[in-house]
Amino acid sequence: MKKIFLICFIFSVLSTTYSQQTEDEPLSVIPQPVSIKKENGIFILPKEIQLGTNTNQTEVLDIVSALSRKFSLVTGYSVKTGRNDNRSTIRLLLTPGLKSELGEEGYHLNVSSAGIKIEAATAAGLFYGTQTLIQLFPAGIESNQYVKKASWPVPFVKITDYPRFKWRGLMLDVVRHFYTVSQVKQFIDEMVKYKFNLLHLHLSDDQGWRLQINGYPLLTKIGAWREDRIGYFGSLAPPDPGLPKTYGGYYTPEDIHELVQYARQRFVNILPEIDVPGHSLAALAAYPNLASAPGPFSVASGEPVLKWTGGGNFYGLVDNSLCPGKEDVYAFLDTVFTEVSRLFPFQYIHIGGDETAKNFWEKSDDVKNLMAKENLKSLHEVQHYFVQRVEKIVKAKGKNIIGWDEIQDANLSPDALVMAYRNTREGARAAQKGQNVVMSPEPYYYLDYMQGDEAIETYVYDRQYLKSCYEYDPVPEGADPDRIKGGQGNLWTELVYNMRHLQYMVWPRSFAIAESLWSPKSQKNWNNFQQKIEKHFIRYDVAGIKYAPSMYDPVFKPSLDPNGQLLVEMITDADNLQIHYSFDNSFPD
Ligand code: ACM
Repeated sequence: MKKIFLICFIFSVLSTTYSQQTEDEPLSVIPQPVSIKKENGIFILPKEIQLGTNTNQTEVLDIVSALSRKFSLVTGYSVKTGRNDNRSTIRLLLTPGLKSELGEEGYHLNVSSAGIKIEAATAAGLFYGTQTLIQLFPAGIESNQYVKKASWPVPFVKITDYPRFKWRGLMLDVVRHFYTVSQVKQFIDEMVKYKFNLLHLHLSDDQGWRLQINGYPLLTKIGAWREDRIGYFGSLAPPDPGLPKTYGGYYTPEDIHELVQYARQRFVNILPEIDVPGHSLAALAAYPNLASAPGPFSVASGEPVLKWTGGGNFYGLVDNSLCPGKEDVYAFLDTVFTEVSRLFPFQYIHIGGDETAKNFWEKSDDVKNLMAKENLKSLHEVQHYFVQRVEKIVKAKGKNIIGWDEIQDANLSPDALVMAYRNTREGARAAQKGQNVVMSPEPYYYLDYMQGDEAIETYVYDRQYLKSCYEYDPVPEGADPDRIKGGQGNLWTELVYNMRHLQYMVWPRSFAIAESLWSPKSQKNWNNFQQKIEKHFIRYDVAGIKYAPSMYDPVFKPSLDPNGQLLVEMITDADNLQIHYSFDNSFPD
């Protein structure tokens, strides 16, 4: 058989020098503001910067301090902060009367010969105004150290801006791979630059339990640790017996306080997820009495837990579900959700509810007894019973539940939110039932998927290209738009072992998600977006943040033509690229 070696090389349109915003260049703000009018002229930052504000509100003073630290570090200029007066170069003005025009998070940003003025009805609005302002400066401003530059220009501009959706989230799975408090803080710093306001932490799963809970010490003593293994997670052989359980970690209450406060200062809510009744193997390794099957159980370290049999069907290879027929389970959950409610101020607690295997429930006397007692006709009804009990527990703590889209069949209270993940139709179905919905559908918003051809990307079992992620609109067909509260990108980390890889998976797809969640639908434009991304890649290079340039890579589509000839089509997500290739193993040019 004749083998064809195909080597491709793409002329990227990336500029290689630091770009400096010049007067005739379009502005590259992500997410695209509601209205942005560039005017003639450039404001040059004076070497003595005065940052003025009209309020003593702590939240605003924190924003002023952060801006002051940024400018003094990177420009080396002197920065003074104080009351707004006619010497202020940058003014942050809190004007509550603007709420009817700008809402809770909007802002006006004006750059003119008189200086820079950001005005908003709330501190959050001022915060987002400063994020936009930073993007108007040359890329060097993203640096984490002093940058020697002759001047720091910003184009004259008038911006009015506010978000389309209130829920603009990113989910980080800190179970499959653990991320430390300082790494989570770094993640928060990166997300707020693009006006995300919600961090969903996936805190429990088969591969770990990541939150210390008073009264259940083994959750973190046993459940937070597993064998340290690398490879294609979910398909590894069972670990050798006796291999030490050295990989893992968990957050203490003090860690959570620190994270919550850090997030709050950046206008981010943290949504904690305790995924039940399925995905609970780590909890069962610690407390095997909570399972239907006898145990013992081990925290999974890369071996499969569920067996997928096609068409979305599956069964458990081990019992990884809490037993809904045991009262001890509800006592356990009461303690867990009491602690979660105490630690996380956000109004919602995510209870998971996805992918619950029922094959061990089927054999359980406890489940059979429950079915008889509660007149439950099927194991699906058992699951709904469980979700209703959990909702009651969570509501008793003064919180509301959110869960993966399977929970929508459990006759939820109207306060419950459904997080659509299996597809967009599940979101539409929940909205039609009158539930409020957050859209994070697996096609479009799953950030763990490959971004390009598997010949180039680290292999994952599915792909999500940037362009279709960008073009997706979070309001599903057939849904009342008022029911759609927003959306989020989900980063599952089975194959994401470190921060650099995490960044690679998150950016630039989360630029796309940010723009769909913040900007008016009418302002979205793939052509403009591609050009803006290039500028942001340069900014990321300066900031030392990794990103995926996969949009410039070819995707190979092999097929046979009617004559049996091999056809290889090469396409890229980015438009207008030249693809050069060779068949003789030479490097194409
Ligand atoms: C999920 O992807 N199982 C929520």
